[in-house]
Amino acid sequence: MANVVVVGAQWGDEGKGKIVDWLSEKADVVVRFQGGHNAGHTLVIDGVTYKLSLLPSGVVRPGKLSIIGNGVVVDPHALADEIARLKEQGVELTPETLKVADNATLILSVHRELDALREGSTEGTRIGTTKRGIGPAYEDKVGRRAIRLRDLANLPTLGPKIDRMLSHHNALRRGFGLPELTHEAIYEELSSAAPKVLPYVEATWELLDERARAGDRILFEGAQGALLDVDHGTYPFVTSSNTTAGQAATGSGLGPRAIGYVLGIAKAYTTRVGEGPFPTELTDEIGRRLGERGHEFGTVTGRPRRCGWLDAVALRQTGRISGIDGIALTKLDVLDGLDEIKVCVAYELDGQTINRLPASQGAQSRIRPVYETIEGWKGATAGARSWADLPAQAVKYVRRVEELIDCPIALVSTSPERADTILVADPFED
Ligand code: IMP
Repeated sequence: MANVVVVGAQWGDEGKGKIVDWLSEKADVVVRFQGGHNAGHTLVIDGVTYKLSLLPSGVVRPGKLSIIGNGVVVDPHALADEIARLKEQGVELTPETLKVADNATLILSVHRELDALREGSTEGTRIGTTKRGIGPAYEDKVGRRAIRLRDLANLPTLGPKIDRMLSHHNALRRGFGLPELTHEAIYEELSSAAPKVLPYVEATWELLDERARAGDRILFEGAQGALLDVDHGTYPFVTSSNTTAGQAATGSGLGPRAIGYVLGIAKAYTTRVGEGPFPTELTDEIGRRLGERGHEFGTVTGRPRRCGWLDAVALRQTGRISGIDGIALTKLDVLDGLDEIKVCVAYELDGQTINRLPASQGAQSRIRPVYETIEGWKGATAGARSWADLPAQAVKYVRRVEELIDCPIALVSTSPERADTILVADPFED
């Protein structure tokens, strides 16, 4: 029995919610290990829709322990609001069922403001962020000036920490022509947040270690996707954390040996939100059709997502980088009824054919997709629960994708309904 890591294998929004929900039912502990409330996971359970941004998906299931690991950046106000929203829906979170790492970094209003300010500045430098302060909070973390969850328990010791953070931020604010922030304003924000979040704060690495030793099943829930990884993604058009599977170990404090199976989630086509290269993007009628049929609007920001064909080159690459054991292919039904379907099998760069996503920003913007065309299918895959329910041509498509990305397809999702899934391999039993 293996602990499972679930990661996005494209640019996020691969439909992790449904898969994570299904797996979380089998898990004892669900851990978030990176990102923050920039993520948007929609869960539909017994007809009730829950929208989660920061909380692990296990929170909506009784008897699960939910952990926000040290690799996450935590906006204390967003956390308190999300807990309150769930309470209104009848889901009561307690300090026994939710734990937040004491060494996780805080997102404060200064980070949110800076994020929005940068995004509003000159065209060309815009990343298309969620404006939630994620990037600036991670910058403070690696800049060693962040304030962390545990600091909230020692308000009298915050003075020098606030000063260190403000010496950086006020210099930036002067540059932007903004009024400086006062020490008192930050202290006030922190002291008002403290009572809301402190009850949940704990040394979660230790708790996870105990649970792992006791044989509990742990599900590591990734957010965003591998192509948004700060090292391996389409830099600089990425998020500010490592979104690939290795981060599950660092971002939870449980060593890599605790990871048994890595499940990558990929759509049967591709989408991305925000700026940045997207070799298989379709700005034509087919792109619009994919967006409409796939309901491709951001959960967090409501922005329409850019849509395109499946990029098997990028997917093969992210499979390697995350050590993916199996892919959950989602939203196959969105391709129903197309006469033909294209899959990117190589790129052309300055007259050369290449088989990987190059690292440089310039090269990434110049690559052109080389497509293989596959015949579409007339029947519906929507609602299929076994291979026998799929049109033969749809099976061919899935098998061809498997070959091209050189990674097994562990499951295929054919609608948002949980039961509409073709299971090839159960990650927890693999
Ligand atoms: P940030 O994470 O808000 O800094 O945004 C950086 C980039 O990551 C932008 O292109 C966002 O659109 C993208 N991004 C962040 N979170 C998600 C997500 O959950 N799904 C898809 N894209 C995301």
